Amino acid sequence: MKEKTRPVRATAVKNYPAHIFPQDLNPQDKMFGGMLVATMDKLAGTLFFNHTDGQSYGTKCIDGIPFDVTVYKGDLLLLDASINRTWNTSCEIGVRASVKRKRTGKIQHLSSTYFTFVATEELDEIDPESGHPKIVAAPMRYGVSPETKDEIQRYMEANVRRKERLQERLQKTKAA
Ligand SMILES: CC(C)(COP(=O)(O)OP(=O)(O)OC[C@H]1O[C@@H](n2cnc3c(N)ncnc32)[C@H](O)[C@@H]1OP(=O)(O)O)[C@@H](O)C(=O)NCCC(=O)NCCS
Repeated sequence: MKEKTRPVRATAVKNYPAHIFPQDLNPQDKMFGGMLVATMDKLAGTLFFNHTDGQSYGTKCIDGIPFDVTVYKGDLLLLDASINRTWNTSCEIGVRASVKRKRTGKIQHLSSTYFTFVATEELDEIDPESGHPKIVAAPMRYGVSPETKDEIQRYMEANVRRKERLQERLQKTKAA
C-alpha cells in the first residue's frame, strides 16, 4: 500500500445521473452502446482526477462491457463508481450502470465493468512515431484504503483481475 492513501469511500460516487441526448440514440431510438462506454470512461476519469488532485492519466484498458437490457429514449442512466485499488502507476476503477425507466420508474442493472487507468507524465523528449512529447507512466500520488467488508473484498479481487490482465497482455505480446 502507498504511504499516502485516501479512503475508497472518498473516491466513490453513487447514483450519478446521466441524460441520454438525441445524438446518443441509434436510428431505432435506442441508446447507442458507445455512449455508455464514453459516459463510464468520463466518470472514471473524473474520479481519478479528483482522487489524485489533478494528475494526468490515460485509460489503459477496459474490461468487457455487457449490455444487459435495452435503453430507450427518455430513460435515465444512474452510475456508481469507485477506485477499487491502486498499484504503483495504475489503478482499477469499478463502474456500475443502471437504467431508470421513464415509463415505469423502475431501476434495472445495465452493465458493470472495470477500467484500468495509468497516471502519466509528459517528457521533454519527442516521440519519433507521433511527433509529440513522449508520455510515460508515473507513480500515482495517492493510494486507496478500503474500510468496509465490500471495499476490502473488491480490493482483494482487483489484484486477481490485474494478474489476469497482465497475463493476457503478456500472451498478446508473445503472439505478436
Ligand atoms: C499509459 C501508458 C503511458 C502506459 O505505458 P505502457 O508502456 O503501456 O505501460 P507500462 O508497461 O509502463 O505499465 C504502466 C502500468 O500499466 C499497467 N498495465 C499495463 N498494461 C496493462 C493491462 N493490459 N492491464 C492492466 N494494467 C496494465 C502496468 O502494470 C503498470 O502499472 P503499475 O505500475 O501500477 O504496475 C501508454 O500505454 C499510453 O500512453 N497509452 C495510451 C493511453 C490513452 O491515451 N488512452 C486513451 C485511449 S486512446
